[in-house]
Order: sequence, then structure tokens, then C-alpha cells
Amino acid sequence: MAIDIPDEVAKFYDLNPELPDDLPFYRSLPPSPGAAILELGCGTGRVLVPLASTCGYIHGLDASEAMLEICRTKLREAGIPRSRACVGRGSISGFDLGRHLVLIIAPFRVFQNLETDTEIDGLFRSVRGHLAKGGSCVLNAFKPDPEKLRDAKVRGEILLWEVPASGGSVTCHDRTGGVDEARQVLHPRLVYRRIEAGAVREEAVLDLAMRYYEPAQFEEIVTRHRCRIVGRWGGYKGERYGEGPELVLQFVAA
Ligand SMILES: C[S@@+](CC[C@H](N)C(=O)[O-])C[C@H]1O[C@@H](n2cnc3c(N)ncnc32)[C@H](O)[C@@H]1O
Repeated sequence: MAIDIPDEVAKFYDLNPELPDDLPFYRSLPPSPGAAILELGCGTGRVLVPLASTCGYIHGLDASEAMLEICRTKLREAGIPRSRACVGRGSISGFDLGRHLVLIIAPFRVFQNLETDTEIDGLFRSVRGHLAKGGSCVLNAFKPDPEKLRDAKVRGEILLWEVPASGGSVTCHDRTGGVDEARQVLHPRLVYRRIEAGAVREEAVLDLAMRYYEPAQFEEIVTRHRCRIVGRWGGYKGERYGEGPELVLQFVAA
């Protein structure tokens, strides 16, 4: 079932100083300046808003109204009209937009939020139904790091990041909910805190389920769904597939 990120968590999303440096990569993908693109799990528009000013049209789909509202505000502030960018609430594992797109993307590990095979089948069915002739889809997951998987088994809070904020700071910890190694699902519990004068003024918690894949498993999922891989990357700094921190696959319907 899709997570619905609430307002009290969504407002902290863009503060994360460790968001990936993937914009140049996603900017390089549209096959033409007029291309129509779909972003699955567009969130606050971190990628969608900059892409909207360089492509013909971009549609964003997300399960969280709170994340979408931040995205809509950014689009308004950037003066991008609805004819160029539009976002709406929906599930990435079953959608019908009534149009075809030349590129479908899901930046920052959105695919890993799909916990069940049924949801994954639904995503591939929906993607295939929306790809224009010759169009492609790019999915991303992190490459499992044995050390981080070990950490995830240890109960307790790990500081992920801290940034200065008006009058104090904002912190984000992972109070891990454990790992299901048989199903390859991590259960991070993100705890955001706004701290002022040494005291916690606000706290918000987000429970996630992140399915993880070894490089060959990620490829196998794509090919099992009758898609042909046309590009592979191991990160956004030129790493080879399987050798960097990310798994990024571009594929077309076979
Ligand atoms: C890590 S954020 C990524 C946001 C954006 N793509 C980025 O790169 O910054 C994951 C987003 O995927 C959305 N999401 C997760 N599972 C979803 C689902 N099943 N259907 C729709 N959206 C989903 C969440 O609401 C969230 O906004």
C-alpha cells in the first residue's frame, strides 16, 4: 500500500543535505526539447520543477497530497503554467493518465517503496501502457551496502543529517524498525526534530518500507516484465553498473 507522507513530514523533505546529485543525469535523458515526460513519485518537485523548464510537458504522480502541494507552490513560484507541468495524486502501481509519454522516470529510489510483487507488476503494466512508441523508462534503486544492512539490524537511533534552521537546527535520525532479510525489505523509521535553544520543539515520524535489490536482481525484474534494458549506470558520477552506490536502469517495452 502506498505511503501517504503527511504535512508535518513533507515540510522537512527538501532540507535533507544528502539528496542525490542526479539532476544533470535526468536533464540529459529527454530525447528532444519538446518531449512529454512522466515522473513517478515526483514528491516536492525536486527533479520535476527544474525539468519542467527544459522539456515540453511533465506530469507528476505522487501518493502524498502534502508533497504535491509543495511541488505546486514551486511550480507557481517558477511561473510554469499548467500547460507545461501538472501534478496529481495517484498510485504508481496502477494509473491511467490517458496519454503516452516518451520518457518515464522515478528518481531517488521511488521504485523501492513498492513492497509487494503485485505492486511491482502493476507499475510495469502501467508504465508499458503509457510509453509512446520508442519511449523509455528509467528506474533507480540503491545498491545494498552490507555495512548499512548490518546497521539496520541494530536497534537505536542513527543520525542521518542535521542542518541549521531559524533559531536552531533540524535533525533527521533513523530509528530503525529492522530488516526482513528473507523478503529483502528494510524498515527505516525516520524521526525529524526541530530543535531550538537545545529543546525539541517539534517531532515527526515516518515509517517506510524499502525493498532492496542486488544488481542482477534489479535487472531480472525489468526483463521479467517483458522490457529490454538499453542503459545501465552505477551512480551519477560515471560509475559502472554494479560498481557504484546506485542502480539505474533504462529500458523499453520489448
Ligand atoms: C524519496 S521521495 C522521492 C521524491 C522525488 N522523486 C525526488 O527525487 O526528490 C519518494 C516519493 O515517492 C512517493 N511514493 C512512494 N510510494 C508511492 C506509490 N506507491 N505511489 C505514488 N507515490 C509514491 C512518496 O509519496 C514520495 O513523495
